[in-house]
Amino acid sequence: MKLYLDTANIDQIREIADWGVLDGVTTNPSLMAKEKGDYKKILKEICDIVKGPVSGEVISLEKDGMIKEARDLSEISKHVVIKIPCTVNGLKATTVLAKQGIRVNMTLVFSPNQVLLAAKAGASFISPFLGRLDDIGNPGINLVYDGMDILNNYDFNSEMIFASVRHPEHVRQAALAGVHIATVPYKIYKQLIKHPLTDVGIERFLRDWQNR
Ligand code: E4P
Repeated sequence: MKLYLDTANIDQIREIADWGVLDGVTTNPSLMAKEKGDYKKILKEICDIVKGPVSGEVISLEKDGMIKEARDLSEISKHVVIKIPCTVNGLKATTVLAKQGIRVNMTLVFSPNQVLLAAKAGASFISPFLGRLDDIGNPGINLVYDGMDILNNYDFNSEMIFASVRHPEHVRQAALAGVHIATVPYKIYKQLIKHPLTDVGIERFLRDWQNR
């Protein structure tokens, strides 16, 4: 499973990229709004650090506006992937962009039928938002299993991104469900490596070694 970082913060991206296990980055307008500086310059900097798929989202809600923004963003770097919301206009824009070889990450996906439509439109990536479903008492993991079945039943090429990750348990669930990618916020990414018994074990090994 590939692991992406869900942030637009350059320091966080540099730190995690340094671990050697970072495959890509996802941003969205809320994440970008937290950062200072020009949107396109930030995306370029992220692409230079990560050298894997980096999602930047369109703001327009109209097909032509989405396509224009997508073309503009995709000129920043070959690594840029265009995030487009799962709407009728989003599907229309995605079918045009996919035919032109511009990769789309269809975002704000909350149902198996939206997964099917996104895949049919040619989205390279499909992002179901698990945490937001969990938030309303609708177990997001069910969508992941249904969505993966749909992609596999028809050999769609789209990769599923387990998004809106709220805790390390979500990452475990994503890996067990065979999802292609999980996009993980910085704080949770750092929790993935931590286990108190690892720390206690290191402490004990060092103490024993020093007392030999
Ligand atoms: C993914 O692409 C989204 O940017 C993100 O996972 C949304 O997460 P949130 O529900 O915590 O805002």
